[in-house]
Amino acid sequence: MTINGPKDKLLITGISGLLGNNLACYFKDKYEVFGLYNSHPVTIKGIRTGSCNMLHKDAVEQSISEFDPSVIIHCASLTNVDTCETDKELADSLNVRATRYLTECAVGRDIKLIYISTDSVYDGTDGNFSEDAPTNPLNYYGLSKLEGEREIKKNKNSLILRTNIFGWNIQEKNSLGEWILSELQAGREIKCFKDVFFSSIYTLELARIIDIAIRKDLTGTYNCGASDSCSKYEFAQKIADRFNLDRTLINPISIDNFKFTANRGKQLSLDVNKLENTLDYKLPSIDQSIDAFYKDFRCGLNTYIRENSYESSKPASLIPYGTQYIDKNDIKAVVDVLRSDRLTQGPKINDFENALAEYCGAKYAVAVNSGTSALHIACLAAGVKENDEVITSPNTFVASANCAVYCGAKPIFGDIDTDTYNILPEEIDRKITAQTRAVVPVHFAGQSCDMETISSIVKMKEKEFNSRIVIIEDSCHALGSLYKDKLAGSCFYSDMVVMSFHPVKHITTGEGGIVLTNNDSLYRKLVRLRSHGITNTPGEFIYNEQALSSTADNKDPEVNPWYYEQVDLGHNYRITDIQCALGLSQFSKLRFFRERRREIVNRYNSAFRDIGSIQVPYESKECDSNFHLYVLLFDFKKIGTDRASFMHELKNAGIQTQVHYIPVHTQPFYQMNFGTSWGDCPNAEKYYQRCLSMPLHPSMSNSDVEKVISKVRGMTEGVK
Ligand SMILES: Cc1ncc(COP(=O)(O)O)c(C=O)c1O
Repeated sequence: MTINGPKDKLLITGISGLLGNNLACYFKDKYEVFGLYNSHPVTIKGIRTGSCNMLHKDAVEQSISEFDPSVIIHCASLTNVDTCETDKELADSLNVRATRYLTECAVGRDIKLIYISTDSVYDGTDGNFSEDAPTNPLNYYGLSKLEGEREIKKNKNSLILRTNIFGWNIQEKNSLGEWILSELQAGREIKCFKDVFFSSIYTLELARIIDIAIRKDLTGTYNCGASDSCSKYEFAQKIADRFNLDRTLINPISIDNFKFTANRGKQLSLDVNKLENTLDYKLPSIDQSIDAFYKDFRCGLNTYIRENSYESSKPASLIPYGTQYIDKNDIKAVVDVLRSDRLTQGPKINDFENALAEYCGAKYAVAVNSGTSALHIACLAAGVKENDEVITSPNTFVASANCAVYCGAKPIFGDIDTDTYNILPEEIDRKITAQTRAVVPVHFAGQSCDMETISSIVKMKEKEFNSRIVIIEDSCHALGSLYKDKLAGSCFYSDMVVMSFHPVKHITTGEGGIVLTNNDSLYRKLVRLRSHGITNTPGEFIYNEQALSSTADNKDPEVNPWYYEQVDLGHNYRITDIQCALGLSQFSKLRFFRERRREIVNRYNSAFRDIGSIQVPYESKECDSNFHLYVLLFDFKKIGTDRASFMHELKNAGIQTQVHYIPVHTQPFYQMNFGTSWGDCPNAEKYYQRCLSMPLHPSMSNSDVEKVISKVRGMTEGVK
């Protein structure tokens, strides 16, 4: 194979990582570069970037066949050594399975594969390892990378480089070199291992070597680090000297005094003779690498790299607690509608409603412009009116109670279960009166209420009071959740189910909501109430003589072409075709959204479960939650802080958290207008003192997740 330079196409995986990004920076003038990220979108000047979940072979295949690269540099990897140890499945997925897919997709194509491996494939006892030395990883990271090497070797034209790197990150995180520099610049003392030796190489030096290796069409396995080695302590001193900083701030320590989750080798220096001889190129020493690192710093390369920004409009440094995931299909769907005849009251609304009804297993769906509107028309359709009572949970967004007030009714709050944080059925039992017109159970965070019990209580009470009590499930959090093997939205235990499509929810339409029902008459009412109370359905007209005209040939009378009637007082709560097109496109990703959230939740659970001052979410066996929210309960007193300070500290570290919820009955509006007060719902109030929702959304990258974990663990560990 011949590489022709500028015309050739280079695919880099892991483009948002340190090496991927630095390689893009180096190669972008020499090649047409396409960089793949998993879920951490980056835009880099001069190259194309795109998302690819490498755990889906189809996605890998699509990226390769679309771009048709001549070279792939596979940098994507789970590099956090301790995470690999605690989450071996994740390490296998990212370091082995993704590599296998890449190799398999390259088969039959003229592609050179370059695999970035690690010095951790050696056992770290003797050091100065040559490529012939036996591999014997001390930790799962090394093991999984070694397994990845085996995968890549199945492609004949492959090159494996075992390395250890430092450089300038695009993301708000620090490689070893950056960390040492920032601490010393801030005048802070640091501790560095005096007994861990390595041959770390500067990323842009490594890029130059890869460039030469590509041009010489090198294949095989090579060590590719600095030509010499030093301890991490000496490395820090060298940085201090080169950047003219105070080296006395650096304290030598022994790794023996540290207990890491994963074992680490002490002697990981590399013998790089084989690569030097094959390429006829002298690899840089550590001093030379640090010198290049310093010179690039003087030229502002670190700032330039960080200026390459995330695609999202939010500041790159903040991980939101919840946000939308929009891809190019969503954008295309919206643009297609903008180019069509109908922006509103067109076909997309029906399509969206049908898709949701069919998925949830309900007969009808009526889409509206928000979850709040959906709750309002559901209450109106239920006949909620002045002097009625509507029972709901205090642990919800205010809209779940406001919908009753809009209809002139009085909201009644039933306290929550201390495990699920959902309304207790016995509270509903206790609070139903002759005035109760509706019950609005809220499936908090995606976990269903005990609907079977609630539904049988309501039936009993209907008999007792000889009244009709409508159940409206507030399922705004629960699209895709299951309760007793039935999807939220099926209306199996209720009259209507309401959902929201606000951007933090599972799928979004910007703003939007829906009411699902199996009841024909409720459906007809809902359709009218969403649009001014107007109907143009013949059976619903009051004034038939005005509505209908007999045609000349004496057939059945027809509705006059201009005619409609307002038969109720409705609203303009219509959703647009633009929104529904987005909703449909989002809906096609629901499964992925759900799976990604679950992956993150599993990771969070394993990271937080053992911390004494944290309580992870309880999961009822009857439910399979979609995890709209991931709420931790903290013992802030034990941790020695308060929630506001805790949240501020997280925010300063780039992590947004949120409180779900301030109990609704304690809101001034309810206290002042309905006489509710603190003390009414003690469980919800106690829960409120301790709850904090962690970031959870499908666009979080694994490194975002690890950042949250390490910060929260750091702030709470050691608290008994
Ligand atoms: C439980 C619950 N109900 C109702 C709503 C209101 O939905 P929307 O924001 O779409 O009006 C929300 C929104 O956050 C919610 O969380």
